[in-house]
Amino acid sequence: MSRKRVTSGMRPTGSLHLGNLLGALNNWVKLQDEYDCFYFIVDWHALTTPGGRGAVGYENVGSLRDRVMELAVDWLAVGLDPNKSTIFIQSQVSEVAELHLLFSMITPLGWLERNPTYKDMVQSYKIEYPSYGLLGYPTLQSADILLYKGDYVPVGKDQEAHVNMTRDLAARFNSLYGRDVFPITEVLLTEVPKVPGIDGVDRKMSKSSGNYIALSFTEEETTEKVKSMFTDPVKIRKNDPGHPDGCVVYTFHGIYNRENQQTIRKECEGGERGCVACKMELAEKMNGALREMRQRRTEIEKNEKMLREVLNDGASRARRVAEATMKDVRDVMNLPPREL
Ligand code: TRP
Repeated sequence: MSRKRVTSGMRPTGSLHLGNLLGALNNWVKLQDEYDCFYFIVDWHALTTPGGRGAVGYENVGSLRDRVMELAVDWLAVGLDPNKSTIFIQSQVSEVAELHLLFSMITPLGWLERNPTYKDMVQSYKIEYPSYGLLGYPTLQSADILLYKGDYVPVGKDQEAHVNMTRDLAARFNSLYGRDVFPITEVLLTEVPKVPGIDGVDRKMSKSSGNYIALSFTEEETTEKVKSMFTDPVKIRKNDPGHPDGCVVYTFHGIYNRENQQTIRKECEGGERGCVACKMELAEKMNGALREMRQRRTEIEKNEKMLREVLNDGASRARRVAEATMKDVRDVMNLPPREL
């Protein structure tokens, strides 16, 4: 009878955008009806990098709490539902630190040193002195997943290496201590539409490139961003034939206005469609799709107490599961119990 468990986390790095919505969150919302979902804001993971220049990190914790709360607002606005899922802040369940410590004893250094995302992070964030915590990032992530005995983790390709390490670690723990305390977690790879930035079809929408449409934008701000989207540079006049394949507006019509995409292509290529009208049509469709999310956001922002209650309730639900797991862990490792 009991449903399989899904676990996933996001770092509180600042406002989410359409790329996050289309790439992950819409899927998380759907999963709520089929799985027992645990969704957590991984504030400790945000401290694995130094931060700076606006970004949260261990050298820049000033806005950490605000970022955590903003992410919670985004989550509830898009439809993560505390009546269906357990939604909470990683650091409020301190058992995850305990499990991380025990996992750190049995994580071979080689696994961490070979982790491709470690090298990526050091390079892309230009980290001069990578920390012990950064190297251990996947061990902490494994503790996130396994503390709640996650059967599935819905993540993108870029996180596959981490989940593979989680599987290896679960298997290693189970075999060392002779009992299947942990499940062997699987990745739930989802088909994700390519979401370009507003500045070009070959560039991914991302916070750091500034080419994004944030979930917190108003209708007007969204329309402005659509108006500034990169289009076919050789289509200058309305009646010039266009090249939809290199056009950001066309790509987004494929997401928000799919039923008309073929007509749009024909009209664009035939010189029967101007870019201005094409953009206005897209902005309308996009704003229509985002309307419900914006209404929910307004409600949530009016009720900060409710938001805090949701997170506190989520943490206490998560803690109950965490305590049961840690009891098993202490038992099989022959550590003294919480109380002798
Ligand atoms: N590493 C993930 C990311 O950057 C965030 C994360 C932390 C996570 N703990 C997790 C994802 C547990 C899934 C499960 O996206």
